[in-house]
Amino acid sequence: MSNFVTVNEVGPRDGLQSQGKTLSIEERLLMIDALLDSGIRSIEVGSFVSPKAVPQMAGTGELFKLLPMTDAVAYSALVPNLRGYELAREAGVRSVAVVLSATETMNQRNINMSLEQTTAVCAELMQRAREDGIQARAYVAVAFECPFEGLTPPSVVEYLTQRMFEAGADKVIIADTIGAANPRAVREVLERLATPSAAGQLSCHFHDTRGMALANVLAALECGVREFDSSIGGLGGCPFSPGATGNLATEDLVLMLDAMGLRSGIEPLALVDAVQRVQALTGTPLGGHSFRWLDRQAGKRQGGSHV
Ligand code: COA
Ligand code: ZN
Repeated sequence: MSNFVTVNEVGPRDGLQSQGKTLSIEERLLMIDALLDSGIRSIEVGSFVSPKAVPQMAGTGELFKLLPMTDAVAYSALVPNLRGYELAREAGVRSVAVVLSATETMNQRNINMSLEQTTAVCAELMQRAREDGIQARAYVAVAFECPFEGLTPPSVVEYLTQRMFEAGADKVIIADTIGAANPRAVREVLERLATPSAAGQLSCHFHDTRGMALANVLAALECGVREFDSSIGGLGGCPFSPGATGNLATEDLVLMLDAMGLRSGIEPLALVDAVQRVQALTGTPLGGHSFRWLDRQAGKRQGGSHV
């Protein structure tokens, strides 16, 4: 099984969308610069959603046009509907992610469509993406628990994931939107999905609301998953899911992978600077479980009296 794990940074989208402070395009670009400087090479840059629904994401098209373009970095954007897809395509986006919530109420609250409508829209969108040569991934959100409908049956997640693959998804991201999963629940879902041939097409998105995100990553790694979303400093939440707090912190994920001998291409200590720069930009106290330790190590390496 592969030793390489892709770390997909979602701070500029999942992190910023729930912040009280709306960053300007220039500030969002500075955040991405900080992430690139720390060695992160896969970034969800923003979303093409209604600026009335999520003002923090207004101007994502403009932001895309300003990104340092290099084949070494995979940029993506979240799109909730065909209008969002068209705007993303026009902005030159090469990889999009659609969102299908596993429950009826969450779909309605998030994107004002029924589950059935959303499934059809996602399928049409992915068909268009294929014709346009754009990579398409699909989030299955609230895959463990929904803030409105309670526990999500694994059979529903399995069914929706299959529908997304049938519709042409290059990857399906199993998302614990409110941070309610636990390692046993992760195994229950992934044992249905992550067959040896399919594990490479799966990714997991965990929130650390109840402190179990890393344990959930371990369960997913053991099921063969080799791609995870995370957010620098644990920045995050979801404005449409009551109770959703920070994402799994990128530095916690990278440090655990590194300690386990798995490669992500990112040096854990290099993330300290990114956390600090993003903290200054957002004005939000940031840092995962490991941040203080990493900060001390980074200080020792510099040989200064870093605190
Ligand atoms: N990007 C920008 N504007 C959009 C849009 C998109 N993807 N989709 C619709 N709009 C605009 C329409 O043009 C219309 O504008 P107008 O009022 O100036 O005429 C307005 O939004 C309403 O359009 P409608 O199709 O009726 O959408 P809606 O009100 O049912 O809202 C969504 C649906 C999907 C646009 C909205 O719920 C949304 O943006 N949700 C995003 C939720 C999110 O980001 N969640 C977190 C990530 S999972
Ligand atoms: Zn999330």
